[in-house]
Formats: sequence, structure tokens, C-alpha cells
Amino acid sequence: MSFWAAALFAFLALLLTSVLGGLYTIGVFRKRAPNEPPLDKGFIPWLGYGMNFKKNSTEFLKRMWKRHGDIFTVLVGGNYLHFVMDPCTYRQIMRESKEKIDFNTFGSIIVLNAFGFPTTDIHHKIVQIASNKYLSGKNLTALNQVMIEKLKTVFIQRQGSGEEKKSWQQDGLFRFSYKTIFQASFLSLFGMDPEKRVEGKENPKNYLTQCEELYEAFQKFDRLFPQMALGMLDSIGKEKSNKLKNYFWDILSIKNISQKYEVSRWVTELVQQMADVGMTEKMQTQFLLLLLWASQANTGPAAFWILAYLLKHPEALKAVKEEVEKALRETGQEVKPGGLSINVSLHTMKTPLLDSAVEETLRLTAGSIVFRSVMQDTDLKMADGKEYTLRKGDRLLLFPFVALHTNPEIYSDPHTFKYDRFLNPDGTKKEFYKNGKKLKYYTLPFGGGTTMCPGRFFAVNEMKMFVIMMLTCFEMELVNAEEELPPVNESRYGLGIAQPEPCWIRPWPI
Ligand code: HEM
Repeated sequence: MSFWAAALFAFLALLLTSVLGGLYTIGVFRKRAPNEPPLDKGFIPWLGYGMNFKKNSTEFLKRMWKRHGDIFTVLVGGNYLHFVMDPCTYRQIMRESKEKIDFNTFGSIIVLNAFGFPTTDIHHKIVQIASNKYLSGKNLTALNQVMIEKLKTVFIQRQGSGEEKKSWQQDGLFRFSYKTIFQASFLSLFGMDPEKRVEGKENPKNYLTQCEELYEAFQKFDRLFPQMALGMLDSIGKEKSNKLKNYFWDILSIKNISQKYEVSRWVTELVQQMADVGMTEKMQTQFLLLLLWASQANTGPAAFWILAYLLKHPEALKAVKEEVEKALRETGQEVKPGGLSINVSLHTMKTPLLDSAVEETLRLTAGSIVFRSVMQDTDLKMADGKEYTLRKGDRLLLFPFVALHTNPEIYSDPHTFKYDRFLNPDGTKKEFYKNGKKLKYYTLPFGGGTTMCPGRFFAVNEMKMFVIMMLTCFEMELVNAEEELPPVNESRYGLGIAQPEPCWIRPWPI
């Protein structure tokens, strides 16, 4: 063969390899192997069902569920995603070893995109250890006390003084709830700035003004978050997000944090642990921004939803209010106008109806997705006894909002708010079943397994404290009582609590 013929042959071979390689990469040759879940690649190479998933993930998943059954694999943007839609199988997935099904691989991509640093198992361990210690048990009780005092401070400012006092104040319900929780929770966890003291004394107005600025910046950051996490920001978005990150990194710099006072033990312990494992100050600050986002991005919206549901269901509002007042009387307290003198200690107050209303709110609004990466070919036995093999390199996803929270086989009228749904008529906790099998997990708003949200107890307490304070400090009415609750903005599914379109509230200080 002449040199030119050989060169031409080599070139054609290379071209063919590239074309085949490209086709392989976009998934043209992937076939369902024996024992693998039903595979649906859609019609568009590589993208697969990317657009359908992005447009309306819940409807898309319901369609696939109906078509393929309790487990299926879909192609989305070059990734093969296995969805398990049978909640009775969740437990087994959560218990699988990380050598087979790991959480870190996917989570670390999101953290890298959004917060700029690579996470490892060490970060996860640090968070778990500090949170087990300071966000549960006695230390949580102490943190609750701080939170309730900060809530009172925010409410005192809200109630106004002089002329403004005792007048209806109109605000968007979402903004009202989110801002209140954000201010109180930020001060409780991240402490206060000594510069905001006036002549050595606390000056709440100064703190709250600073928190208000922070809240506004946080809202902008949070709006960019879904695109940022997926690494899909355009150049303008990138510029905005970088500016915001610099603003937060400045506020959360280790130098600033070390000068603050009344920083929570959760944060101080985390900072100490990060330094001990050799993280640079820059990385510690980046990590603190992650903690700020994780601790704030869902609780404010959750506080909104519970208040909105109660306002739209007067019988629920009345029942919960009566229960709270009774529980306060049982601890020797009376609800007087102003309400701010009450001492809310959640560990002694029995409030099963409020607890049920919180759980019902989370059931209806938590769109958290549990992500896992398949690290090696793994056999999965479903609760119905069928066995499947999950292929190495694929992803495994659970979307409890569709498969569990709004599953009509588990919950009657699954889209209706029933404040006492989680209680039996005798006041004991209800159990939930699917196909006659008792469910270990009947709601999963906080994810599951080893990656379950470490702030979940505090989050629930924040919601309860917010409701108790609202019920004892304000009369409330919706500006337009006829208005339906705003629809959910689905773009945040996967990240936690859904966010609504605007609606209005008028709180009246009592
Ligand atoms: C209603 C409020 C909240 C919801 C719905 C929520 C939900 C979640 C979910 C779904 C995850 C991911 C779990 C997984 O990957 O399986 C998570 C992680 C996390 N949450 Fe929450 N969360 C809430 C409030 C809080 C609060 C108040 C804190 C702290 C005070 C917090 C701290 C964290 C942290 C630090 C992580 C990351 C854990 C890790 O990567 O090791 N969260 N949360």
C-alpha cells in the first residue's frame, strides 16, 4: 500500500472511530440489558427527555411511571437516570453501601458549581458530627431559646412604635414569613456584629437593618441558584452570582465571624473542625456560605406555606390556635395582648395538631430529590420481589413528592391540606401503608439515609416557633380571602421546599 493510501485509510479509520465514539457517547447504542430496568431514551440523541424533565418534572415522571411501572431508566442530557417510584423500596436503597451507591459524586458537582469548592467525605462528616451535637437534644433546646428571642426582636420591630403601632401592615405573605425567619435564624446561627452595638448595648434596629440587606442579597443569590448548581448560568448570570458570592464571602469571612458575638455553637464548632482538618480560610468561608444557604433557603418558604395553609383553612387555624393557647396555659402562661412576654419552650409544650400541620405542610411542598451515583453494577431487589441490575456510572433518583407524598395509594385526597392528617381520632400518631405494607418512611422532606438534612429538627422547630408567635402576637387575615393559594413554582423541584407566586397578608398587632 502506498503512503497516501495508508494515510487515507488511517484517516478514514479515525473518522469512523470518532463518529462511532460520538454516537456511543450520545447513547445511540445503549440497549437495555437483561435484568436492567425498562429503558426509555426518548427521540433526541443525548438530550433524551431533557426538555420534558425541565418543563414539568412531576407530570413527566407520572407519565413514565404509568408507562414503565415502579422502576425505569430515562436518558436526560447524556445521563441515564434510574427512578424508583415504589416507596417500599426506599429503605433498601438508603441502606446500600457507598461502594455501590454513593451520594457524594453528584452532590460535590452541585457544591462545586454553586459554592466554588470541592467537597469530600470529610466535609460531610464534619457537618454530621457538629449537627448531631448542636442541632439536637439539649443543645437544640438552647438554640431554640435563642431563636425565640430573636423572633421576638423581629416582631417588636414589626409591631412598630408610636403612630405606626397597632395598624394593619400589608406585606406579601411570602416575603413577610421568609424575611422574619431569615433575620431571626441568621442572628441565632451566625451571631451579631459588634459594630452594630451602640455604646456597647444591643441595638436591634441596626442588626435587623443589616439582616434586611442580607436577606435581599440572599433572595437574588437564591433565584440564581438552580441554574448555578447545574453550571448553566450565562455570562450575565455568572457576573451577578460572582458579585453576590463576594458580598457573602466578605460577611462570612473567618475574620468577621471570629469578631462576632453570640455565634451559635454549631457554627463555631464547624469553623474549628474545618481549621483542624487543614481547610484554608477561603475554603472555610465558602463552606460557611453553603451552610448559610442550606440553613435558610428552605425554612423561610416552609414558614410561608404553613401560615398560608392555616389562613386558608380557618378550622385548622382555630384548632391549632386553641391547642397552642391550651399548651401555654398548661405551662402556667396566659396569652395576653402583645403576646411577646410568653415563654415558648417546645420541649415541654404538647402540640400534636401543630406537629401534624407542620408535617402536612412539608408533605405538600417539599420537592426534594434524593440523588445517588451507581459506583458499580448493583443488584436492586424491589419490595415486590422483582430484581434489577443498575449499571455502573448511571444515577439513581428518588422523588418522594410524586412517588410518596402525593401518592393516592397512600394518602387520600393527596393534594388537599388536612391539618390533622397525621393523627388518629384518639390523638395518637397515624401509620401509613402501601399495598398493605407499613411504610417506614411516609414523608421524606429532608432527604434520606446518610445524607439526610442535619438541620431537620431545628427546621421543624423554627416552623413551630414561627406559627406559635404569629398566633399569639397577631390577628391575621388574607387581604383577599377568596384568593386561591398561589401555584407552586416548579423550577425549584429538586432543591427542597417549593416557592410560590406572590399573595398578600395583613397582620394586626394584638
Ligand atoms: C424546611 C427546611 C429544610 C428542608 C426541607 C431541608 C432539606 C434538606 C435536604 C433535602 C438536604 C439534602 C439531603 C440529601 O442530599 O439527601 C439538606 C441538606 C442539608 N441541610 Fe437542610 N433542610 C431544611 C433546613 C435546614 C436547616 C434549618 C439547616 C441548618 C440549621 C439545614 C442544614 C443542612 C445542611 C448543612 C445540609 C448538607 C448536609 C451535607 O451535605 O452533609 N437544613 N437539607
